[in-house]
Amino acid sequence: MNSECTALIIFGATGDLVRKKIFAALYELALIDRLNMPVIGVGRSEWTDGALRHAAETAIRSHAGGALVDSSMAAVLSNLTYVRGDYASEDLYNALETAVASHELVLCYLAVPPTVFPAVIKGLGGTTTSDRARVLIEKPFGSDLETARALRKLFEEHFGAEQLFAVDHYLQKESLQNVMVLRFANRLLELAWNRDNIDTVEVTMAEEFGIDGRAGFFDATGTLRDVVQSHMLQVVAALAMEPPLSDTAMDMNDARAQVLSRVVPLRAIDVIFGQYDGYLDVDGVRSGSNTDTFVQSRLRIDNDRWRDVSWTITAGKALASTRSEVVVTFKPATAPLFISSGCQPEANQLRVQMAPKEFIVLTMQARSAAVPLGTARSTIASTDSYRSAERLDAYARIFDDARRGDQTQFASSEVLEQSWRILDGVIHRTDRPESYERGSHGPPSATPPAARFMQPGQS
Ligand code: BG6
Repeated sequence: MNSECTALIIFGATGDLVRKKIFAALYELALIDRLNMPVIGVGRSEWTDGALRHAAETAIRSHAGGALVDSSMAAVLSNLTYVRGDYASEDLYNALETAVASHELVLCYLAVPPTVFPAVIKGLGGTTTSDRARVLIEKPFGSDLETARALRKLFEEHFGAEQLFAVDHYLQKESLQNVMVLRFANRLLELAWNRDNIDTVEVTMAEEFGIDGRAGFFDATGTLRDVVQSHMLQVVAALAMEPPLSDTAMDMNDARAQVLSRVVPLRAIDVIFGQYDGYLDVDGVRSGSNTDTFVQSRLRIDNDRWRDVSWTITAGKALASTRSEVVVTFKPATAPLFISSGCQPEANQLRVQMAPKEFIVLTMQARSAAVPLGTARSTIASTDSYRSAERLDAYARIFDDARRGDQTQFASSEVLEQSWRILDGVIHRTDRPESYERGSHGPPSATPPAARFMQPGQS
């Protein structure tokens, strides 16, 4: 299936994700003239075309601010229509089949809660649309290894395996893609990227905000399933993988799956689960819920490149600040040259920040004037070398790639199963997570994030 999709169906069009990210992504595509297709929003609510357009307009205005381009807004709105239906009812899929009858290839995006994926897969699968669809399924794909396998089986009963586009928007993040370029385009790093030279790797996804407004989804999901199984393990895969044989979807996903298959399954003693104070009072959270809003875990990768390197992943809501980043700490230099000056050169560190700002900082050691051979930290920073005016937001890229049939930045079934395998020993925990204060660095027993870096531009 190499040709392009000419229509888009969005299941879950009245939901939070569509309001927060998808309307803006459609607008970004319209800005570069790549949204020349009907977009059919589907939902259970009693909405109309007008209500959907109104929701889109509000979201796009808030996204674009003063830079709004009226013609692109108009392009989104004029393409949007709404179909109301029950996801379990054949009528809905028959109506959709009629709506896209003249299109040879259709993008179907499932932004519905994970419990609804099977109904939509079966519903779409029962119509002729199934032969000409590319199906984008949001994360989490399943809720553990067994359910992920069952969902894949169900999908493959109705569609070809190549029709699955498992969404993980982190794969489309500029900074994640930049990790690959940094690693493999810089001989300096390529040579040092192993356990002989690297001491620790920390991957952090800290968010200042809580889960208000999306308790229904979050309380049934938790941090481990929401972001660790997907985003964080994709970051780990990009950092740890062997060089892919090529940039094709198959080789990229093989390299990801291969390294994930070497990650030692987590045990209860490796992981700290936390829940922020006040979580239980959020509207929509089940009484006495043990859902995790914080996860910190050690990871071990059992291969020649990484054995003995300490990996830590941390993800949480309602933390002190929003900061998504990778910090790689190298082993310290060992030359005896500095002993007489009493200086101990600091280890080099590479920091790739993804949010709130995107930048890269590499700390090096240079001479400090205080002592003849004294050393001091000096930074090499790149703040905007990989920014470009045409850069699309992650979700705009997701639609654009899927429309063209490019699966490079979508998780393969093998990658999905490997990531669930890593979590399988801890995913069904029932104990109470450790409490932590809103605005803190997480539960008292968690290790706070390294605060030893300078922002670019700071001295
Ligand atoms: C989503 C998670 O996939 O990613 C959210 O469901 C999380 O819980 C979000 O907040 C973070 O993505 P971004 O791109 O907004 O940083």
